[in-house]
Amino acid sequence: MPELHFENQLYRVDDFDSVLNTLLKHGHAIPNFCRSGYCHSCMLKAEEGIPLPFSQIGLADELVAENHFLSCQCAVYAPMTIRRPDKDKRPRFVARVQDKRALSDTLIRLTLNPEHDFVYQAGQYTTLINHDGLVGDFPIASVHGDDPYMQVDVYRDTPNALTGYLCDELEVGDAVEIMTALGDAYYSEMMKDRGLAIVAAGTGLSSARSAIRKAISAGHASEMRVLCLTPNDMAHPLCEELEQLGKTSAWLSCAFAPQASDSQLGWAMDALESWAAMAKEPWRSLLVMSDSPTFARALAASMGEQRYAVRCSTE
Ligand code: FES
Repeated sequence: MPELHFENQLYRVDDFDSVLNTLLKHGHAIPNFCRSGYCHSCMLKAEEGIPLPFSQIGLADELVAENHFLSCQCAVYAPMTIRRPDKDKRPRFVARVQDKRALSDTLIRLTLNPEHDFVYQAGQYTTLINHDGLVGDFPIASVHGDDPYMQVDVYRDTPNALTGYLCDELEVGDAVEIMTALGDAYYSEMMKDRGLAIVAAGTGLSSARSAIRKAISAGHASEMRVLCLTPNDMAHPLCEELEQLGKTSAWLSCAFAPQASDSQLGWAMDALESWAAMAKEPWRSLLVMSDSPTFARALAASMGEQRYAVRCSTE
C-alpha cells in the first residue's frame, strides 16, 4: 500500500481511496463539501510526490505549479508528503450577508450564505476579506449540519484590519469573501466517549459555544468540563448562554473565572489540575480555544501532550 505523510503522521492508503478520505478517516479536519472536484474546498499541497493531473483540473496555473491538488480527486500510487495550503492560498468563496445582529456593544454575529457550502468543525475559525482586501480571522459560531447558514462572531475589540468595517459599514445583502476553516481545537464525534476539558478565552468563547452545541447534538456521553476565562467584570456577552448550556446535560459543566493576563496561565493550570483530580474518569483530550497564540500554546505545552491529546486553536 502506498504511504501518505501528513502532519508528522504516516498513513497507508487503501487501494483507490482518495487522499481526502484517508485523512478524514484518521480524524483530520480537512475542509470539503462536493467531493467531485467542483468546490475546491479540499485543496492540499504536495511537498514530495506528484499529485495526479486529474486532481489539479480547474486549479489556477500558479496553484498547479506549486503542486496544489484537490484531495477528494487524488488517489495515491506512490509515496507522497502533503500539507495544508498556506493560509493565504486557501480556497475562498463569495458569501452574502443574510443577517447582522449585535449581541452586545462588543459582539456582532454575522450570518453568511457562501456561494459554496463547505464542511467546517465546531470550534474552528475562518478568514474574511472585504472588497478593499482587508483581512481578519473570526471564530465560527454555527455548527455545520445543524445550522442552515454559517455564522461568524465579530468582537469589536479584536485587533485586525477588518473588524471596524464589519461592525460599522457592512450591511445585510453585501458580499464578503470567506476562506475555508482553520484551527485544530474543535469538537469531533471521535471525542464522544472520552473525558474532555476545554479552556476558552477571548474570542475562544464563541468557539467553545460551538463545540458544546456540537457535543450535545452528537450525543456526547462522557464528562466534559469547560473553563471560560472572561473579562474581569464577567460581562462577556456569551456568559449567560454558556451558563445555560452548562445546565442542559449531566455530563457537562461550565465554570467562569476572571481573565487576568498576568496570572491566567497559572490559574488555568491550577483549575485543570484540580478538575483532573476530581474527574470521574481521566480526561483524554484538552482543547485550548483562544485568540492568544501565546496563551494557547503555553497552556497546551504545560499540560503536557503525554497526558492528554492537546489541541490549540492557533496554528
Ligand atoms: S470536496 Fe469539493 S473539490 Fe474536493
